[in-house]
Amino acid sequence: MKRRSHYCGQVGKNDIDQTVRLCGWVSRARDHGGVIFIDLFDYTGLVQIVAHPEMNDFSLIERLTTHSVLCVEGLVQSRPEGTENKNLSSGSVEVAIQKVTWHNTAQALGYDVNDPKVTEAVRASNRVLDIRSDTMQKSLRFRAKMMAAMRSYLDHDQFLEVETPILTRPTPEGARDYIVPSRVHPGHAFALPQSPQQFKQMLMMAAIDRYYQFARCFRDEDLRADRQPEFTQLDIEMSFMSADEVCAWAEGLMKHVVQEMLDVALPTFPVMSYDDALLYHGTDAPNLANPVKFIPLDSVLKGCDFQVFSQPANDEGGRVAAIKLAGGCEKLSRKDLDGYTKQVMALGAKGLAYLKINDLSDLRAGISSPILKFLDDDTLKNLVNELQVEVGDVVFFGAGENRLVNLTLHALAKQLATDFDLFEPGLHFIWIRDFPMFERVDGTLHAVHHPFTAPEEDYQDLTQAKAQAYDLVLNGYELGGGSIRIADTKLQQEVFSLLGIDEAHAQQEFGHLLHTLTQGTPIHGGLAFGIDRVCMVLQGLDSIREVIAFPKTQTASCALTKAPGLVDDIQWQELSLKFKKVKSGG
Ligand code: AMO
Ligand code: AMP
Repeated sequence: MKRRSHYCGQVGKNDIDQTVRLCGWVSRARDHGGVIFIDLFDYTGLVQIVAHPEMNDFSLIERLTTHSVLCVEGLVQSRPEGTENKNLSSGSVEVAIQKVTWHNTAQALGYDVNDPKVTEAVRASNRVLDIRSDTMQKSLRFRAKMMAAMRSYLDHDQFLEVETPILTRPTPEGARDYIVPSRVHPGHAFALPQSPQQFKQMLMMAAIDRYYQFARCFRDEDLRADRQPEFTQLDIEMSFMSADEVCAWAEGLMKHVVQEMLDVALPTFPVMSYDDALLYHGTDAPNLANPVKFIPLDSVLKGCDFQVFSQPANDEGGRVAAIKLAGGCEKLSRKDLDGYTKQVMALGAKGLAYLKINDLSDLRAGISSPILKFLDDDTLKNLVNELQVEVGDVVFFGAGENRLVNLTLHALAKQLATDFDLFEPGLHFIWIRDFPMFERVDGTLHAVHHPFTAPEEDYQDLTQAKAQAYDLVLNGYELGGGSIRIADTKLQQEVFSLLGIDEAHAQQEFGHLLHTLTQGTPIHGGLAFGIDRVCMVLQGLDSIREVIAFPKTQTASCALTKAPGLVDDIQWQELSLKFKKVKSGG
């Protein structure tokens, strides 16, 4: 005999007068003068079961606590008129318990798992209870279904799933490595993969043609709401494809996933250059749902007398830009303006100049601003033209070093859109293309993507070249990125050398790849999607911890298992390591 005949949410009118066997958790028990009503739930929903005092197990039922597990056999009957619950699929029936077949009592939980006000810390340290919540159940099931949709699309397109090692050598993706010391090779260590990048390239050299893997990646980096130290990529690589072809294919995949998961048919994704993304949004992951965009002002303000503006406007590494809040005069109080000033200054801005456009017939009298006195009539006129302001608008300025202006005005644009509910609904996908190969930080070159990225085909100067790279961004989140790869040993060595990796070091760390490149390498490229991020954004959630069963906290630890744990002296000795004593938890 089956222990369970129906899931809780499946019981309905059609089962009236049938005996059913149900298994679930007690959500709520109500004692109505001797008769006890219990809401029993599992992931499919909830059903009301009823215990009468004359039944054998009644005393057990009386003692049941919230989230105790109960398996019962009972008779499905109509609920008395007036007691139906239209919000439940099982709301027209209840199950009269005949016997309890199994139970397991839960200790007091201490909180309601479905209460949205419960703090993240409480949720994290009670993760198993947390996963019982409606939101986590929905989220994890969404994730699994989404991954299945991806997998079927890939399988249908002749991609081969191949697993690559977790214990490996470092693969640079811009973060610190997690290191695993080797016991049998004293002084040597594995690195956990930041991505399977090199392996997937070598699989192309190995004639695999089209590869994918749901790959666990490990990066020891500063954590944010969209970053975990351990996360999952849908990692993809293809041979004999151009960047345009890879993007078109990946767009097809994303459209399929969105259609399957949300029943939304997406239009063709727009494309924006990296330069324009920074110029108009201050970031390479622009949120097209935010109507507040940068208005570049270098050319208008180059010649003005106000040095705060003219200096960065003339400086190669600086810029002046503005953002506009339509109707801001009415929306913003003095206190709000001070608050926004404080916010950008906390990020490093030197101030936040603004104009309040009260009247456009007489600019000097019609505009109120702390910087009005610094702007001559011509500059003011040109500025108003360029900004295309309307009466009632407030304009904010950022002036200074490029990076700082981009950071602060982007943060302000996001804050304004949040505070005044300006985000447009919907999924705003965009491809970012034409990345540079390198960026210079404090005089040294760094790869904008990773060192295996191929430059544009007809480059003159490699240090200035654009990369054959692309990122897919959705509503301000970088969902994925990739490139066409370097398929030539000499070029690969040249890139390593520009990045300050000398020949000996390159041989030591990447000798396998450099060698394999000489053995018959197809032109190849691919990309990787951050599964956690895709899952988060498609569900409209704002943290990837909401889509990962057992995530790490902001301090890269596990609140449930308390990992990482201390290691005892014997284990360190076996690894030929000696450790400075640290206080527990320190
Ligand atoms: P990249 O480093 O851009 O590229 O990573 C690809 C995608 O992985 C996701 N991602 C993360 N998600 C959660 N937590 C993190 N710490 C984290 N870091 C990255 C993002 C990102 O877009 N090997 C290349 C891909 C390639 O060239 O094919 C790579 O790893 O969604
Ligand atoms: P100051 O000349 O420093 O008194 O600044 C005059 C106005 O310009 C003030 O409103 C400042 O907040 C603003 N301001 C100063 N520096 C910057 C900057 N780098 N970017 C934007 N606004 C600034």
